[in-house]
Amino acid sequence: MEILHVAAECYPMAKAGGLGDVVGALPKYQNELGHVAKVVMPMYRTKFLYANQWELVHEGGQQLGSHWFHYSVIREKTNKLGFDLYLVDINGLLDREKIYGYDDDTERFLAFQIAVCDWVNRWQHVPDVIHCHDHHTGLIPFMCKYSYAFRNKLAPVKTVFTVHNGQYQGWISWDKYYYIPAYDSWNWGLLDWDNTINPMAAAVKCADKVTTVSHSYMDELKVSANGLQNLFEYEKGKSLGILNGIDTEVWDPQTDNFLAKNYSQELVQKGKQKNKMEICNQFGLDPDKPLITFIGRLVGEKAADLLPEAISQSIYQHHGRANFLVLGSGETHLEEQLDQMKNQFKGYFNSYIGYSEPLSHLIYAGADFLLMPSRVEPCGLNQMYALRYGTVPMVRSVGGLKDTIKDFGDWQGYGIRMDQSSVGDIIYSVGRAIDLYTNKPDLYEWMRGYMMTIDHSWDASAQQYIDVYQSIHK
Ligand code: ADP
Ligand code: GLC
Repeated sequence: MEILHVAAECYPMAKAGGLGDVVGALPKYQNELGHVAKVVMPMYRTKFLYANQWELVHEGGQQLGSHWFHYSVIREKTNKLGFDLYLVDINGLLDREKIYGYDDDTERFLAFQIAVCDWVNRWQHVPDVIHCHDHHTGLIPFMCKYSYAFRNKLAPVKTVFTVHNGQYQGWISWDKYYYIPAYDSWNWGLLDWDNTINPMAAAVKCADKVTTVSHSYMDELKVSANGLQNLFEYEKGKSLGILNGIDTEVWDPQTDNFLAKNYSQELVQKGKQKNKMEICNQFGLDPDKPLITFIGRLVGEKAADLLPEAISQSIYQHHGRANFLVLGSGETHLEEQLDQMKNQFKGYFNSYIGYSEPLSHLIYAGADFLLMPSRVEPCGLNQMYALRYGTVPMVRSVGGLKDTIKDFGDWQGYGIRMDQSSVGDIIYSVGRAIDLYTNKPDLYEWMRGYMMTIDHSWDASAQQYIDVYQSIHK
């Protein structure tokens, strides 16, 4: 089958979180299964853009409301990623350093989606499936089916929409209705949710299949989805959860270039110790104490707001028997708070505020525990990276975390689970982590070795997506 993935992120070109990891891996595994999977995304100004060679494959022009824009599509020349990567360049709109966070994000991603539809509309043979990821691409299923400009050729193309995060829906005020290429006016209801154009809702209504990134999150969306729960319940017949995988070539402690020392399952203890030493030297922490870390966006979904109190209370209540390290960026007040705590808890806590791919790899390798107290976690990749690097995940039982981590108190469990996202639950889990590390070394060693053997590669899930495409493609 020929599949075109459309997304705002794709590793290594541009990544803000797990969406980038998924879109940078799934197509590669689908190609390995004998299909032709490609990715198209916006052309931001990233290091990867400048470090690689591109060829021009198409140039065109389209309207965004009354504004005409020119776009070009370029392709990475060497195909070293394991899939063809196409970038849409729209001068002045997409070619910026950050992925998101501009006042005109609505215009940017709408122009991107229109350009993608226009480009595909000109292919000699259209793809079998257009697979859209998250709300930045959510209007494509509607435009393919209903916009006059595209529907003749694109209406028959099957569309799949994957919800990576239902919290963000891309709301657009109806004042901007004229941005969407013309369609029969009685179809406006497909775009609407609560008197707003809602790209996520439009995609759930219009796509042939809707997927999300774990089974539990699919269930949760029907109960709570930032206002869309009734829609997810209504569309459950065409919806299913497929658990994300991880790219085991990028995330491999035996070959990872970002580590101080590479290691295999057999040498986990020594290998991790070297990486831990490196981190402890960099951050002034004690390598003899258990190192508990957090990596991620500093936002409410991840319960990052609980970290300052949970960490300081854990240090007091557990008498400084564990060290903590946070790598993250996000809400300014949390960044400031976690930055200030460095001085207050010197030798017990440190933080790196910002985004660093190399440091994240080193932490997965050198940490003893990885904390994820998320309030919402559609899938979560961090816990799967932690498993692969022999780091014990401490997770809230929610979404994909619930589907991937078993508590060590249960038969053959290999992680620490907490019921609630609360300061109390975190402090209690820290106590369990310290106890495991200090008093149950044999169990701890067994867990580390065992978790590294768990297969979370994309092999199974990539095939499940193919099954989904085949179920809608005649
Ligand atoms: P989400 O997509 O909701 O942020 P995931 O667990 O799916 O959560 O994926 C997060 C990805 O982003 C992981 O690859 C993680 O290592 C990475 N990441 C998050 N924050 C940072 C950071 N500050 N520096 C480096 N990598 C980060
Ligand atoms: C989203 C979710 C995260 C998931 C990722 C990749 O960002 O918040 O849980 O792992 O997408 O699907």
